[in-house]
Amino acid sequence: MFDFTGQVIAITGASSGIGLEIARKFYLAGARLALCSRSEERVRSAVADWADTSDARLLIISADTSIIKNIYRFRDAAVERFGRIDVWVNNAGIEHPMPTVEMTQEIFDAVVNTNFRGYYFGCQSAAQDMLRRGEGGTIVNIGSVNAVTVVPGQAVYAATKAAISQMTKLFAREWGRDGIRVNCVGPGSIPTRINEEKYKVPGAEKAMREKIPMGRRGDVSEVADAVLYLASGEASYITGQTLFVDGGLTLVHG
Ligand SMILES: NC(=O)c1ccc[n+]([C@@H]2O[C@H](COP(=O)([O-])OP(=O)(O)OC[C@H]3O[C@@H](n4cnc5c(N)ncnc54)[C@H](OP(=O)(O)O)[C@@H]3O)[C@@H](O)[C@H]2O)c1
Repeated sequence: MFDFTGQVIAITGASSGIGLEIARKFYLAGARLALCSRSEERVRSAVADWADTSDARLLIISADTSIIKNIYRFRDAAVERFGRIDVWVNNAGIEHPMPTVEMTQEIFDAVVNTNFRGYYFGCQSAAQDMLRRGEGGTIVNIGSVNAVTVVPGQAVYAATKAAISQMTKLFAREWGRDGIRVNCVGPGSIPTRINEEKYKVPGAEKAMREKIPMGRRGDVSEVADAVLYLASGEASYITGQTLFVDGGLTLVHG
């Protein structure tokens, strides 16, 4: 559907779920890929399902994006191997739903540092390379419906996701004249590792399906399609937006 031949795409959190599917689609669209998660091995074995991991189009490294220096290291490794970054996808994310009265500083910091600080410096890292070259580029942040819905026990996660939507607008404005588009994709309920446990609770899956106007949870592939669209020339006049891919879930929660 999309052609990214020769373009360089950097994706964080590519060992499973949405990030892995985004990587697969960009790979099939001809891109060169820089991929990371906290475990190079996990990414390598996941990607092996659809690519030869020794392919020169692939760079796979370990980088914990909750630590700023690792984001720079990931960016630098991508630029050293491929000479540029055309598209940067901030996707690495974690959640720890729990009653607020039980929240600890360690869990709070882990979620904020991965989902908020990691994205902020991810955007900065990408923009530094794009501004240096002066040819523009695009950034896609993976946000969430939680940016606008109100789910008890999700205060920290939801705040980081609202921050992602807001910083997407800020950066779109800051770098608009430099040809850098910044957008956000907000997935609804998508079966992946992040929510596996939550949906093991009897009735949880059914209750979610009943809440969603389209009557079903989404698929990683439907989220990835939105990311490729926003990264592509077809979205050349779109910036600062959050596109919810949620089967209408945000309509219910308001
Ligand atoms: N699934 C949903 O319903 C849903 C809904 C809304 C938003 N989202 C968002 O979608 C994004 C992807 O989540 P997912 O659903 O695909 O869940 P997932 O399968 O758990 O994927 C999360 C990815 O992030 C990586 N990761 C986590 N912490 C990291 C860190 N500190 N540094 C580097 N990589 C890290 C994980 O890899 P390692 O464990 O190997 O490090 C994994 O590859 C997240 O931002 C999430 O908030 C998901």
